Amino acid sequence: MIYFDNAATTWPKPPEVLETMHYCLEVVGANPGRSGHKMSLVASKIIEDARQSIADLFNISDYNRVIFTLNATDALNMAIKGSLRVGDHVVTSSMEHNSVTRPLNGLWGKISVTKVRCASDGTLDPDQVKKAMRYNTRAIILTHASNVTGTVMPIREIGEIARQAGVIFIVDAAQTAGLLDINVAEMNIDLLAMPGHKGLMGPPGTGILYVGERIILKNWREGGTGSNSAVPGQPDILPEKYESGTSNFMGIAGLGTGVKFVRHTGQSKILEHELALVNKFLEGARRIPGIKIFGPPDGASRVPVVSFQLRDKDTIAVGGALDQWYNIACRAGLHCSPDAHRTLGTLNSMLVRFSFSYFNKPDEVDFALQCLRELKDRNINQFSSSGCNN
Ligand code: ALA
Repeated sequence: MIYFDNAATTWPKPPEVLETMHYCLEVVGANPGRSGHKMSLVASKIIEDARQSIADLFNISDYNRVIFTLNATDALNMAIKGSLRVGDHVVTSSMEHNSVTRPLNGLWGKISVTKVRCASDGTLDPDQVKKAMRYNTRAIILTHASNVTGTVMPIREIGEIARQAGVIFIVDAAQTAGLLDINVAEMNIDLLAMPGHKGLMGPPGTGILYVGERIILKNWREGGTGSNSAVPGQPDILPEKYESGTSNFMGIAGLGTGVKFVRHTGQSKILEHELALVNKFLEGARRIPGIKIFGPPDGASRVPVVSFQLRDKDTIAVGGALDQWYNIACRAGLHCSPDAHRTLGTLNSMLVRFSFSYFNKPDEVDFALQCLRELKDRNINQFSSSGCNN
């Protein structure tokens, strides 16, 4: 199998991630932070190490502000619903994932939202964000890079705008954490949400929310924290305030090892490898008649996500044929981002998406290009209704 669906979840994971998880399940599978026995203490230390590695990667000065969540969506729900109040106004973009748009829609009638329209390659003009600000704007919420086109957003500039206006800056780093430099202090990020299972190389079921020093979120989950147990309410100390119940210890341990892999390898080396694959694909695709690529023209302003259509071919059928005939796993459909597809004009036609990882090889890109050359001349109608969760 050639796996080009890394924007959904990265696969394979580094072998040491699997080894860590196996060790935790087999040898120290106790409940961290709950009991005083040796196994529980080792488990707590492993979680603490993971928290510290993550804090170091994002220049977070207090590692207790790294909150473990289920995934990026969970983190975004905590950030959005925990920080907004009735009457607030929010500025966001037209390229957001449903993990941002649905929580905002869920607050319909309580808050107002301005979606700044991005250009047809997904790029965002910071001036439009500035113009969208109102007296009651509480937050700017922005993806760091589109999961459909890979377009990288001007996070640093928007962070400046947020700080000057005194509003909360919430960033969805689902496609960039572990790949692009993110410095929460320099970029004025108040709440940073990310999955553990994509660029950070951890397992599914892991996510992170960084909660900045200016922020106090409404409680999300209340319950056992292993600390201050006699107190009737949720403790105000971090990370316990936002983490209750038995944690996903094996997952977090695997995530900690994934983050160490990223730090040892170097984000710039990972990015360089992945963008070389993007550029190779773009170069080859340009020579295939009938292929239309969306997003920025080269790899320089995108993460390793490339979406395209084949002329006169049903998008879902292309995804199905790539899987069934050529053993290439990709994602065809709407990618949980209908607003992004509205921006691109592909809400009905949808897109085939390739997303590369550090473990993909240039010859896999060559093979995929060869497959697309063949596919454009083949009848693929049989795959039109193939299993697609768009
Ligand atoms: N949000 C993930 C994707 O883009 C799952 O595929």
